[in-house]
Amino acid sequence: MHASLHCAALLGATAVPVSVQVDLARGLPGFFLVGLPDAACIDARVRVVTAVRNAGWELPHKRVTVNLAPGDVRKEGAGFDLAIALGLLQAANLVAPAAGPMLVMGELSLSGDVLPVRGVLPISLLARRMGIGRIIVPELNGPEGALVEDLRVDAVRTLAEAAQVFSGELSVPPSPAEAQPSRDAMLDLSDVRGQETCKRALEIAAAGGHSALLVGPPGAGKTMLARRIPGLLPPPSFEEAVEATSVWSVAGRLGARQGLLTQRPFRAPHHTISVAGLVGGGSPPRPGEVSLAHRGVLFLDELPEFGRAALEALRQPLEDGEVAVVRARGAALLPSRFMLIAAMNPCPCGYEGDPRCQCTVLEKQRYRRRVSGPILDRIDLHVEAGALKPSELAAMPAGDSSAAVRDRVAIARELQRQRFRAMPGVYANAQLRGRALRELSRASSDARAVLAKMMERLGLSARAHDRVLKLARTVADLDDGHPTVEAKHVLEAVQYRCLDRPVQGRSAPPVPSIHLARDAALQAVPPDASSGAIPEVT
Ligand SMILES: Nc1ncnc2c1ncn2[C@@H]1O[C@H](COP(=O)(O)OP(=O)(O)O)[C@@H](O)[C@H]1O
Ligand SMILES: [Mg+2]
Repeated sequence: MHASLHCAALLGATAVPVSVQVDLARGLPGFFLVGLPDAACIDARVRVVTAVRNAGWELPHKRVTVNLAPGDVRKEGAGFDLAIALGLLQAANLVAPAAGPMLVMGELSLSGDVLPVRGVLPISLLARRMGIGRIIVPELNGPEGALVEDLRVDAVRTLAEAAQVFSGELSVPPSPAEAQPSRDAMLDLSDVRGQETCKRALEIAAAGGHSALLVGPPGAGKTMLARRIPGLLPPPSFEEAVEATSVWSVAGRLGARQGLLTQRPFRAPHHTISVAGLVGGGSPPRPGEVSLAHRGVLFLDELPEFGRAALEALRQPLEDGEVAVVRARGAALLPSRFMLIAAMNPCPCGYEGDPRCQCTVLEKQRYRRRVSGPILDRIDLHVEAGALKPSELAAMPAGDSSAAVRDRVAIARELQRQRFRAMPGVYANAQLRGRALRELSRASSDARAVLAKMMERLGLSARAHDRVLKLARTVADLDDGHPTVEAKHVLEAVQYRCLDRPVQGRSAPPVPSIHLARDAALQAVPPDASSGAIPEVT
């Protein structure tokens, strides 16, 4: 007596098929579970037998063998319980076999209730890809399954209900998704007075999905600005939302009966976070903050206070948009395409340039070096938030509302969507690199000449060159969708590199001036450029 059911295991943010095979044979009664189960999975033996008995069935005194195939994929957690239980009931002729192929996921309580599991959205997507038209999931995960078109979803509360659905006597459509509270509608950009350069930089960041670093003294409004970024971003497209929701589902972070994430994630971990907490890992491996921020914002306040190892671990996700989480058997890839927004003080006391500042040159250098060059190089915009006196604050203009900026950002993002039509998974200028960047940015010869000159003057790396070009593309997109990148766009873009430093000799490197790039940019602009005319390059 044998039964075989479709089930799934999670590998990173995707699901892989698992077949649950149940065999009942004569012999000494016993329950064997094989196929690389972890501790929680192997406990299914106890949960399943107890739940079946408490749901009112009497199992024959036989030897039960359950195999979870393929044997080389690790089976984690209790999500296989329901499939094992239904397989057992079918093999014992206690329920009729399913009419057609279906995939079954769910954990069982001892009383026979079906408890929620992680990853129902990617598992439902897998079912559709495999051509399995039906899935049975726990009631609390129903709305996740319902996101997938052309898939019949039954969202069950108990093992008894699941058995009836399985044999075709009952149908339990999922309940509608519960509304998510809308976030921080109260936080508006116009609350922040002054800081025009920062606001412009954040508008560019939002428009092209670029990462940004705000540098300034305490109380300048850096945290305030960063928390207003979600309000500048258009809502995610359906594809982006499905990607983000899949990660949250795998991480077990979706609430009960939650459907699609309707807002882009905003994650702001504390600086004491571990490497695994930030980039993912642990045992069993879980997505880190970089993946939870996928298609949204990762805000790292007080950047130099983060552990060195944690900051360095950001390199791969920042560069590749995905992160490899190493496991006992191979590595799982998790998506991590986020906008990094970081904030830091210019020196340990925070008041560099002010008579209050007591920091020595050495202390300043040490503080700056906590954020390594390779990390700074991967942040597209570096901007300074100047100190504001309380008396000045009141007199400062409020500037544009978040809604006004969001409208401009939405237009620029739409241009990018058109531009990247033929490139699946690419939605924003920040994702461009290499040849695609050079071709799609469409820089005029003037713009290229200015860029080459700035590279030389500032001693920029090849990576920094690409960052400036991408940024200039976004500046042009915000400039009424200018089809080509012009010199003026490059000149604006290069100013957002205030922490770039030329390679210094060994002797007494000065503390890099955060005005360096701006001074050099101004030198490169002839006097008439302020009128908006394209400067000539000599
Ligand atoms: N530019 C600004 N406009 C309005 N309020 C400000 C501004 N800068 C600072 N504040 C006030 O100071 C408080 C601290 O600002 P915060 O963003 O935490 O500064 P930072 O992160 O730069 O140290 C804010 O809650 C706000 O009340
Ligand atoms: Mg702050």
